[in-house]
Amino acid sequence: MQTNSTNDTYTRQAKVDWDNIRAQFNLSKEYIHLASSQFLASMPTPVREAIHRYQQALDKDPELYTEENEDPLMQNTRKAVARYFGHPEPDDLAMTDSTTMGLGITYSGLGLEKGQEILTTEHDHYSHHESIRGVTYRYGASFRRVPMYENLAEVTQEEMVHSIVNAIGEQTRVVGITWVHSSTGLKTPVTQIAQAIAKLNQSRDKDNKVLLLVDGVHGFGIERETFQELGCDFFVSGCHKWAYGPRGTGFVAATSEAWQHVTPVIPSFTDVMDIVIAEKERPNKMNGKQMTPGGFHSLEYRWALNDAIQFLESIGKEEIYERVHYLNRLCKEGLASMPHVTLHTPLDDELSAGIISFEVDGLSTEDVVKRMLEQKITCTAAPYLTSYARFTPGIYNTEEEIEKALAAVNSLK
Ligand SMILES: Cc1ncc(COP(=O)(O)O)c(C=O)c1O
Repeated sequence: MQTNSTNDTYTRQAKVDWDNIRAQFNLSKEYIHLASSQFLASMPTPVREAIHRYQQALDKDPELYTEENEDPLMQNTRKAVARYFGHPEPDDLAMTDSTTMGLGITYSGLGLEKGQEILTTEHDHYSHHESIRGVTYRYGASFRRVPMYENLAEVTQEEMVHSIVNAIGEQTRVVGITWVHSSTGLKTPVTQIAQAIAKLNQSRDKDNKVLLLVDGVHGFGIERETFQELGCDFFVSGCHKWAYGPRGTGFVAATSEAWQHVTPVIPSFTDVMDIVIAEKERPNKMNGKQMTPGGFHSLEYRWALNDAIQFLESIGKEEIYERVHYLNRLCKEGLASMPHVTLHTPLDDELSAGIISFEVDGLSTEDVVKRMLEQKITCTAAPYLTSYARFTPGIYNTEEEIEKALAAVNSLK
């Protein structure tokens, strides 16, 4: 018998016309696209149309249109992302081009002292580790990477929280973690880690509290938690993966308190520019607007992020969560049942999101990707020292596609 919550799930899933959602994407029919949602988004119709509209207006009157519209349209985008992510203050969002840019400007903007430390894990992305390496080098600070678990097959949320919190030392100023690991698909318990750090911070001086920074790119656009529920100080994400936003968009969300620990690496082109030029007093508080790197950007893309968020909202956050988790579960259960396959991503929804990492006996990851492509299925190799093959079912995929992908993997035995 179905539980109430299972019933709710079916009702919500049935309410969405997933064929229509799929029809919004111009994906080639030649392939089953099981790699792009975590790589680089295909943009749905409303996003492509918005970009085209803004592009035409900019090409007609670049200066006039920008002067009149840049601030309000950028603010609309900021508000849309804040609304979707449950952040109460849109001005505390810095708009960026990517996760990498967000990590770079946030870590580089931190004021560290010699001897302080950034604690991170062994499981984060190259962009994360390199941003940390850069800032600690410049300040004469240090960094440490720790594993979050002993054995991935047996990992628990408690173990991950414990690994992080136990590794925090007197010199630790920042903890940098990743919401969903792109190496293994493991989802970390950000809320629990934030709560444990908050507890530990109660006994630390005001100026020496541990800040929590999260690379959230593989959670944003799938998972349901709001910024406040996650409870971190900085949340960095691109919007050109699971949010299906314009390529070259992203954001950093922070608490107002956290922003006071950073200064801009790249001057912003927001209202602060006029204040500085007029040699008036600068704002006495840092925020996301001032942390938004300036220079003109591909404005049509940034503005159309508003339309991408509205597209997600039109489907529904719960519905997206359930659909993506449902397709991923289907795929993981199929892979787990094959004796020649090692599934590395946990089956549990609490420990996974949209990335599925696996190995096939007797084949290198490169070979698996190649063999999938021969069967017209896209699959990626994770860019890590230990690299697994990855499927990443998203909102435009179907049950039939998952079945075909499973049959293709089965044929590799
Ligand atoms: C965990 C993680 N962080 C950051 C990035 C970089 O993303 P972006 O292209 O938004 O800079 C990736 C790339 O896929 C990633 O997997």
